[in-house]
Amino acid sequence: MSQGTPHVEDVLGTVDRRLWRRILGHARAYKGAAYAMMAGGVILAIVESLLPLVTGLLIDAVIGEASTSRITWLGVAYAGLSVSFCVIVWWFIVAAGKLATGLAHDLRQASFQRLQELEFAYFDVQPAGWLVSRLTSDCRKVASLMPWFLLDLCWGATFLVVVGGGMLLIDWVLGLCVLAVVPVLVLVTIFFQRKLLRSSRLMRKTNSELTAVYNEGITGLWTTKSLSREPENIGEFQTVSQSMCNYSMRNSIETSIFLPIVTSISGMGVGIALWVGGVQIQDGEGLSIGMLIAFMQYAVLFAMPVRELAARISDLKGAQAAAERIQGLLDREPEIADSEEVKSRITAAAAGQRHGSAADGGDHRIEAIDFRDVSFWYKPEEPVLEHLDLSIAAGETIALVGPTGGGKTTIASLLCRFYEPCEGGIFINGIEYRKRSLHWLQSSLGIVLQHPHLFSGTVARNIAYGQPEATMEQIEAAARTVEAHDFITQLADGYEFEVGEGGSRLSMGQRQLIALARAVLADPQVFVMDEATSSVDTETEHHIQRGIEAILEGRIAVVIAHRLSTVRSADRILVIQGGKIVEQGSHEALLKADGAYQALYRRHFAGS
Ligand SMILES: Nc1ncnc2c1ncn2[C@@H]1O[C@H](COP(=O)(O)OP(=O)(O)OP(=O)(O)O)[C@@H](O)[C@H]1O
Ligand SMILES: [Mg+2]
Repeated sequence: MSQGTPHVEDVLGTVDRRLWRRILGHARAYKGAAYAMMAGGVILAIVESLLPLVTGLLIDAVIGEASTSRITWLGVAYAGLSVSFCVIVWWFIVAAGKLATGLAHDLRQASFQRLQELEFAYFDVQPAGWLVSRLTSDCRKVASLMPWFLLDLCWGATFLVVVGGGMLLIDWVLGLCVLAVVPVLVLVTIFFQRKLLRSSRLMRKTNSELTAVYNEGITGLWTTKSLSREPENIGEFQTVSQSMCNYSMRNSIETSIFLPIVTSISGMGVGIALWVGGVQIQDGEGLSIGMLIAFMQYAVLFAMPVRELAARISDLKGAQAAAERIQGLLDREPEIADSEEVKSRITAAAAGQRHGSAADGGDHRIEAIDFRDVSFWYKPEEPVLEHLDLSIAAGETIALVGPTGGGKTTIASLLCRFYEPCEGGIFINGIEYRKRSLHWLQSSLGIVLQHPHLFSGTVARNIAYGQPEATMEQIEAAARTVEAHDFITQLADGYEFEVGEGGSRLSMGQRQLIALARAVLADPQVFVMDEATSSVDTETEHHIQRGIEAILEGRIAVVIAHRLSTVRSADRILVIQGGKIVEQGSHEALLKADGAYQALYRRHFAGS
């Protein structure tokens, strides 16, 4: 349900400066924009604080009947400052936009690249929806906050110093009156920012729950309707939606109290200063009217940077969890990757110092695959394969059969190095496969899964997914081999038919045929087919069988299937049960053996 918030975040924690420095490190390429923006912040604060002073001088000049040229010059100065103000605002908005867009782009790019490199085990524990929000909302949140934080930090700090100093210079007694309320202002602001941070976090958390309920409500609608569960679903939705209303209301009330309180506190300082200053003027001493007005404007503006700085720090805390998640993803090293030794062999082979035919300098051809004493578990307390030994010779087709959950897919995943053995090793031509390049191995395999994934795009593009340079003739030939050509030509645009997201406009059997054609086109050394034709009708499967047999000739193939027709012609059938090979041999030999295979045959295959 709460896929969007698997980590409980400490909303009141301190700002993790090391983390933010690292995030800022990703913006190195936009250093120029960052400095321009920070300089813009400093200049803006100075210009903004000069405006009240010029106003005060102008008023005094008019009241004191100063020369026209002085009044004109002050008017020109005021206009000049106002124009500079606009130009600086334009300048830093452009620079902030450049920094935010660039940083978001770089963070997205780096996180996507890391996701492409990470091993399958990572995706077993991180739900897809959660990862998608890391790539989208987290990157956006962190990147859009960074420029405004830097800007407000420079602007706010400069403003506080210049305006504070300005007030003390104009009249230190009045200045101290205004500054006296600053500690109260800071305390109240921190108190409310914490409250606002907590309620907005709760709002976001509830919002992601709401999204999940929406999502399940829509995707599971068929099941809901078939079980008449609509009233319960509406009730569940009502509960989450009500919490969202409550938290939003709380946040609005807190905001509505916070702003008037802060304004009143700063107003008190201004009031005291106005009172003291006014009495002084009445007594004919102290400030001129113009300077008192300038001072009053400073006093009013003084609360602004305090409020803005507090808001930015609270934004930073609010986005800290997002920053941690992005940095955590970027720091995560892929567990299944080429070792340093393999990488140096690839470099040596590229430089022509090794003479094997594969990119890592080893043999290109796969002659034999050996699982030696392989044990594997997804979770240490639940072993899936135990001490498995399996040798596959060149040209051999082996079939894995057995009850659900026996470990067949796991064996195939280990062979493909989607996962690696926890104990023991898998040897290719006598060499442990971790000593070979991952890319070489995986590009030598043609893998077809039970639920193949098709990408949005045409049928032709999907078949040529791994071989983008393939010609239309090659694509068609692959489709003909797996009996997919006929159904493809009957589609509205034939090979140019758009398959939809995940192949949603095709039936499961049609998707499997396209995935098979994709594997055939890649012309791999080894075929791994996990229930590759389970959704295809038996008639078509017989045809495919004939087409594929010619292709499998001379290659290693590992076929997992529940249907007898698919495994019957294999050179060797292995019965996998409870993570062990309990029986193996040819179809005929196993039937005669009166063991597990025969029992399976009777129970599952008798009808085919
Ligand atoms: N990603 C995973 N994380 C944790 N456990 C898993 C994972 N994949 C499989 N398992 C567990 O490993 C065991 C073997 O699963 P596997 O998918 O290899 O079985 P199978 O023989 O292919 O079954 P089926 O015939 O249903 O496809 C099962 O108990 C399953 O629950
Ligand atoms: Mg399976």
